[in-house]
Amino acid sequence: MKKNNIVLVGFMGTGKSTVGKQLSSKLGWEFVDTDHMIEHRENMSIPEIFSKKGESYFREVETRIIQEVLSNDMQVIATGGGSVLRLQNRSRMLSHGTVVQLDADAEIIIKRLEGEKLKRPLLQGDLEEKVYEMMERRKHAYEFADFVIDTNVFEVESIVEQIYNVVVLHKI
Ligand code: S3P
Repeated sequence: MKKNNIVLVGFMGTGKSTVGKQLSSKLGWEFVDTDHMIEHRENMSIPEIFSKKGESYFREVETRIIQEVLSNDMQVIATGGGSVLRLQNRSRMLSHGTVVQLDADAEIIIKRLEGEKLKRPLLQGDLEEKVYEMMERRKHAYEFADFVIDTNVFEVESIVEQIYNVVVLHKI
């Protein structure tokens, strides 16, 4: 049976963690941020993991954490933007929860990430160029989600309400 989890996916800067935290408190469910779990497990920040161990090592740990987290129930899970690139992760998300994509336009994401660049190893260099290029490469990556929520206008309460209505009241 499908577990009672809500899995938030989406490009960097779409608000997965901010929205996830509020949604979890509305539901009284656990909030899990897979990036934080990875940092805790490895005892290093994400940029450190990328520079010392490389991206493929990071992806291995990410996959293990996603498998692990999704064996539990009643959680709102904020995932890293690249976690959906592996089929194994996408399948696990779909079979163990309801997957919600948070979406936003490149211009909005660039503005949101301006002060946050250092935390994101894949965005080093020209932020604008990197975001456009990665969004183009990943343009179909999030299509597997059960629902899409537009976050261009970022009012957390309203986004939480929309997810709550669509997933909790009508689906689970
Ligand atoms: C990544 C997104 C990041 C983090 C890592 C790689 C990506 O998470 O997992 O820097 O490949 O899109 P956020 O989406 O929370 O920024």
